[in-house]
Amino acid sequence: MRILSGIQPSGTLHLGNYFGMMQPVIQMQGQNGMEMFCFIADYHALTSIRNPEVLRENVRKVVLDFLACGLSPEKTCFFLQSAIPAVTELTWILGTLTPVGLLERCHAYKEKKAHRLPSSHGLLSYPVLMAADILLYDSDLVLAGKDQKQHLEVARDIAVKFNEAYGSVLRLPEPYVQEGTVVIPGTDGAKMSKGYGNTIEIFSAEEVLRKRIMGIQTDSTPVDQPKPTAGSAILSLYKLVARSPDYQQMLNEHIHGGTGYSAFKERLFEAVWLFFKPIRERREELIAFPEVADQVLKKGAIRAHAIANRIMERVRSAIGLR
Ligand code: TRP
Repeated sequence: MRILSGIQPSGTLHLGNYFGMMQPVIQMQGQNGMEMFCFIADYHALTSIRNPEVLRENVRKVVLDFLACGLSPEKTCFFLQSAIPAVTELTWILGTLTPVGLLERCHAYKEKKAHRLPSSHGLLSYPVLMAADILLYDSDLVLAGKDQKQHLEVARDIAVKFNEAYGSVLRLPEPYVQEGTVVIPGTDGAKMSKGYGNTIEIFSAEEVLRKRIMGIQTDSTPVDQPKPTAGSAILSLYKLVARSPDYQQMLNEHIHGGTGYSAFKERLFEAVWLFFKPIRERREELIAFPEVADQVLKKGAIRAHAIANRIMERVRSAIGLR
């Protein structure tokens, strides 16, 4: 069973990236019968990053972050999307079968357009490139956050269209969406996302991180009063990083009142800081060996390339190229 996941190199790693995507990948790698593929979606990043230094630096950082968080190059095929340029060829081929309407209906596209991003062809066809990512490696399962669910459905739709036109060439991927986990809230309570400026970055300096967490928006319930628990960003985040009795205690204190938000936030900060301590330390060690990242990606690309070649042969022959 091959599981695939990808992440955009969007800069600094935040709690939403970690709990939404990295932690599940790292927990599942090496499990019996699982073959984990994980890539850095640098082609996708071009839809929002127009500075070559920034892109290169972001990629370097995300590789480092992944290795520090425990991604094992032995257990996981870890590679750079652009190291396998065939994915753009497959994107073109799939694009010829993809109705524009299907792409125009995608929430992410509509949302980005509604925000400030100029609507380029790349932004519209983002899900086609994603479908190519998935289909190029005969993925059985695709691990992604809830917000990617619609894109995974589009990938399946496109695969079905291809197979209807050319016979069963492409393997239909199943989504493996983290349903159990709540959407990770940001400092304003909305989904944590770089685009919203509400992220809590994992590798910030201690004081920066504390400030960020102390800045989580809360209502004006007085200290002695009970505090709402539903939709509380503090509680949702605390649950992810605290030991369960500590979480229970904070929950009770919300219900009974008597503790102020700043005390809760202070405790949340301590828990986040502690949770990421070993990862921070490993990251510090890895920074001294930048060549390790290159070696890991090179090894991943060789393996990914071999598989992609096989599938592209199948695709080209099915559609009549060569
Ligand atoms: N769009 C995904 C995100 O922003 C990243 C991604 C690109 C991806 N290609 C993928 C995820 C293929 C899973 C499978 O999170």
